[in-house]
Amino acid sequence: MGLMDKHEIIEKNATLLLVGSFLVVTVGGIVEIAPLFYLENTIEKVEGMRPYSPLELAGRNIYVREGCYTCHSQMIRPFRDEVERYGHYSLAAESMYDHPFQWGSKRTGPDLARVGDRYSNEWHVQHLIEPRSVVPESVMPSYAFLKETPLPVEDVAYHLQANRGVGVPYSDEMIAEAKADLLAQADPNADTSGVEARYPKAKLGDFDGNPAALTEMDALVAYLQMLGTLVDFSTYDEAAGYR
Ligand code: HEC
Repeated sequence: MGLMDKHEIIEKNATLLLVGSFLVVTVGGIVEIAPLFYLENTIEKVEGMRPYSPLELAGRNIYVREGCYTCHSQMIRPFRDEVERYGHYSLAAESMYDHPFQWGSKRTGPDLARVGDRYSNEWHVQHLIEPRSVVPESVMPSYAFLKETPLPVEDVAYHLQANRGVGVPYSDEMIAEAKADLLAQADPNADTSGVEARYPKAKLGDFDGNPAALTEMDALVAYLQMLGTLVDFSTYDEAAGYR
């Protein structure tokens, strides 16, 4: 009996074909998945990544609440047109502390993975209050109410704690100091040594243009201004052997 005949037996017997297919898929699946259980970490460690500061985390919560991800991605794909427009393609490590991640799947507006430092705080505030006052053809909705809405601060430690529950390495000290760190980061007159030590590269000061009030606008702009700023890509590419 030749090889073709044997194959014909399998093809003409539905049960045998089903069992055979099942075996192939099972073996293939195990070969793909098993190594992941033995790797310490499937995400490459990248220098500069740290958990969000309490103020940034509060801003991120507003970003999620307002559904900014329905129009904006945070995922620069490794294609030349994307890299030339937005900067270095996104690394898995850059969203390792995101729960849930904000990769998005639709771009009505531009990708925001590296929007930090691209504009001034004033630009962001003006743009969020009335997008068409700075980009006349914009279809982005107005979020003016954020500047009128006081930022709740009492519960911020719980947000850090919840993130720790899903694996973000917030220390006991970070959780104990969460409220103080949040207030210090947004206060131009505060002692910021603690928040700077715990959250390197955190942007400091008044964000919403009104130092007298701590608003949701402060938190959202603090979050936008840090996006994509933690990893130093001039050293990353060298270390990874890309240059
Ligand atoms: C209905 C879709 C839509 C939603 C929802 C939306 N945006 Fe936008 N966004 C846009 C569009 C379109 C642009 C490009 C025109 C412009 O700059 O206004 C844009 C631009 C931006 C920019 C400037 C990016 C750049 O590189 O120039 C930022 C920052 C931004 N949006 C933040 C936000 C935030 C934060 C939220 C949620 C509070 C949000 N957007 C919600 C559509 C949207």
